[in-house]
Amino acid sequence: MKAFPTVVQQAWQDREGPVVLATVAPDGQPNAIYASSVREYGDDLLVVADNYFHKTRANILAGSRGALLFITKERKSYQIKGGISYHSTGPIFADMKTWNPAKHPGVAAAALKVEQVYCGSERLA
Ligand SMILES: Cc1cc2nc3c(=O)[nH]c(=O)nc-3n(C[C@H](O)[C@H](O)[C@H](O)COP(=O)(O)O)c2cc1C
Repeated sequence: MKAFPTVVQQAWQDREGPVVLATVAPDGQPNAIYASSVREYGDDLLVVADNYFHKTRANILAGSRGALLFITKERKSYQIKGGISYHSTGPIFADMKTWNPAKHPGVAAAALKVEQVYCGSERLA
């Protein structure tokens, strides 16, 4: 993932547990979910499988940007912010289907563009 600084690529591979994905509704109401079905795609996308989204899906389809928070085994936290595209067909959807566990429906793939990267309050990219 070239948009990721190298240190963040390493941290992403070393992440522990589910990530947190935050979106916002048109009225400004924030919404945060845990997500386990996540994977990088190409140089600058982090994809979350939409298995059970409800408010998250509504927010994304209404144009929400997103923030994705993860923590490493060494207890360093990273936050990625960017626009989100929503794919229910096409190559990003097809890729999600190859790694999303078959027991989950995988109705779509939400792709967060890596536009800003933070470690704690420090901006890295
Ligand atoms: C540990 C954990 C992991 C989860 N992983 C996913 C996931 O990868 N994809 C998904 O659609 N929902 C996942 N969920 C469910 C969402 O966190 C959430 O309940 C769902 O999106 C509905 O909430 P919403 O209405 O705020 O979108 C997970 C829940 C937990 C507790």
